[in-house]
Amino acid sequence: MKAVVYKEPFKVAVEDVSRPKIQHANDAIVRISTSAICGSDLHMYEGRTSAKPGIVFGHENLGIIEEVGSGVTDLKIGDRVVMPFNIGCGHCRNCEEGNTGFCTNLNPGFAGAAYGYVGMGPFMGGQAEYLRVPYADFNALKLPAGDSHEKDFALLTDIFPTGWDGVTRSGFKPGETIAIFGAGPVGLMAAYSAKLRGASKIFSVDIHRERLDKAKSIGAIPINRDEGDPVEQILGETEGEGGVDRGVDAVGYQAAASGKDVPNSVLMSLVKAVRPTGGIGAPGLYVTEDPGAPDEYAKQGVLPFPIGMFFEKGLTMGTGQCNVKRYNRYLRDLIISEVAKPSFVVSHEIKIDEAPNAYEKFDKRIEGYIKVLIHP
Ligand SMILES: NC(=O)c1ccc[n+]([C@@H]2O[C@H](COP(=O)([O-])OP(=O)(O)OC[C@H]3O[C@@H](n4cnc5c(N)ncnc54)[C@H](O)[C@@H]3O)[C@@H](O)[C@H]2O)c1
Ligand SMILES: [Zn+2]
Ligand SMILES: [Zn+2]
Repeated sequence: MKAVVYKEPFKVAVEDVSRPKIQHANDAIVRISTSAICGSDLHMYEGRTSAKPGIVFGHENLGIIEEVGSGVTDLKIGDRVVMPFNIGCGHCRNCEEGNTGFCTNLNPGFAGAAYGYVGMGPFMGGQAEYLRVPYADFNALKLPAGDSHEKDFALLTDIFPTGWDGVTRSGFKPGETIAIFGAGPVGLMAAYSAKLRGASKIFSVDIHRERLDKAKSIGAIPINRDEGDPVEQILGETEGEGGVDRGVDAVGYQAAASGKDVPNSVLMSLVKAVRPTGGIGAPGLYVTEDPGAPDEYAKQGVLPFPIGMFFEKGLTMGTGQCNVKRYNRYLRDLIISEVAKPSFVVSHEIKIDEAPNAYEKFDKRIEGYIKVLIHP
């Protein structure tokens, strides 16, 4: 079958690889109808992780059940399903407690497993024609038959729940103000979630006009960090409150400031921009190994953090992989009932052969590339 294979920094290729097989009674094989490219894939693509050549990318997967193992009870051939990017066993302590992004059974020695991602276990990604789904009854969420809402449902794999979770982890309550750093897919989903959840004011910070325009289209106030310090711009708009109630880091360690890599720049800004006793949610990725980092500490994921100001202001912060399974059923139902339509972020839909070109453009954040869906 065809699959998107990582070759070297800034290079992926579409190659023939062997089709996945049932390896365990609880597995299912899914014929992929949509697999999205994620900002998280770009960390590997750019060589900013320890990913080795040969990985098949793709953790945002939706499709049709093609085959089921003998132990699968709730799914049948032909069912339309969407999978969280995390893979859980369903019965370890973390899975039982709802922390399915931190499963301790599927990737021995590490809490957390995912498809097609460095360090997240031996699971092949779904930017391919077929995908093996372990513990399929637990990991596959059923969707209405047919092809309705395909673009919206594809975002249930990761970015819609992750944006929603960033808002949750900030401690957000309806009526509050919130600043979201990053207007990539995750930041836009955080802004959209804050909107759905009743934020009184949403600030969206980035440098890319097209992305800020998207944020504006859903009612956020765009803040272009090329036009001055975003913290000052936000403080200037919060009328003596001393900052926003909540902040979200939807950028992570590849943050840039003044055209340079400054891995802690968003965290620094958030601690300054959030008002005393407010909260920060940080879905943006931070890593323990970054070979391309600007200094020795950053290479080990150790970044300067203003703990003094964080303490003085009595802030809280929540971070980590999103436990997608906590949210995907409910967000699916918001899509079905047409309360939510997250697919406004989708900019491109392509065939798998076009993936190398799409990676290149998405990586450069040019030509309106915001969210790319691959239909293999
Ligand atoms: N926690 C999770 O479960 C989870 C899930 C998915 C993605 N992520 C992570 O979330 C982050 C965002 O993902 P994405 O798909 O939106 O990626 P993306 O790279 O498309 O978007 C990031 C955006 O941040 C902007 N940016 C860079 N530096 C900035 C700064 N200093 N201030 C404001 N904006 C800045 C960029 O211009 C870009 O538009 C990534 O780190 C990704 O790995 C985490
Ligand atoms: Zn993703
Ligand atoms: Zn588990």
